[in-house]
Amino acid sequence: MPLQPLKPKLIIANWKMYLGVKESIILARQTSKIKTTNEIVVCPSFVVLPLAKKELGKKVKLGAQNVAWREGGALTGEVSASMLSELGCKYVIVGHSERRSLLNESEVTIREKLKLAVAKKIIPIFCVGETAEARKAGETVKVIKGQLAVLNNLSFDKLVIAYEPVWAIGTGRVPTTEEISDVHGFIRAEAGKSVKNLQIVYGGSVDENNIKKILAVTGVDGVLVGGASTKLNSWKKIIN
Ligand code: PGA
Repeated sequence: MPLQPLKPKLIIANWKMYLGVKESIILARQTSKIKTTNEIVVCPSFVVLPLAKKELGKKVKLGAQNVAWREGGALTGEVSASMLSELGCKYVIVGHSERRSLLNESEVTIREKLKLAVAKKIIPIFCVGETAEARKAGETVKVIKGQLAVLNNLSFDKLVIAYEPVWAIGTGRVPTTEEISDVHGFIRAEAGKSVKNLQIVYGGSVDENNIKKILAVTGVDGVLVGGASTKLNSWKKIIN
């Protein structure tokens, strides 16, 4: 099994639309009290960003789950990179598979979002990953190569790429450590040249039982956690 020594990792919580406002505030407060040597990022809903920021304190970084693909103006219901920056967001998730599939987010808008985030010094957490069909057809690398093409000719001081197989998100199914290591290696070879500081994290059914094994995989710099990041008991064990 490809293993690497344990060192501080980037642990990102994607709360999606799981928590209400009050629940988010409580969990943000509890998160700020958890002792860890890892780097923690919490991505709550837009509507609780300022409140969560207050509760998270200085050590835990704030992230957003999405950003508008235009800088400002007449765009009902959207939130710009400048607004996120003003609110203290250090990270933003871009191209999550739920947005790609349920909200028809295109590679064109994903590329614009990446550009706008970088212009405001917000680090994108850029999500890529294959569907179950693509994996079955042996096209995992081909799909990911295609998704990474949106990075062409863009420059990043710092970028996080989240490898999130679509079939692993919210399903309890996780690739083998070899599969994770292989895809992370491919992503690093493909994107590493154009990004000075690239971190590659794994996402998809990460929980308190599999966290240690996943973080020990060669090439895994951290994790992006959905469901399990919204339950305090699981979250505490994942962070530590
Ligand atoms: P999950 O979600 O941990 O609930 O599988 C991960 C994600 O979609 O970022």
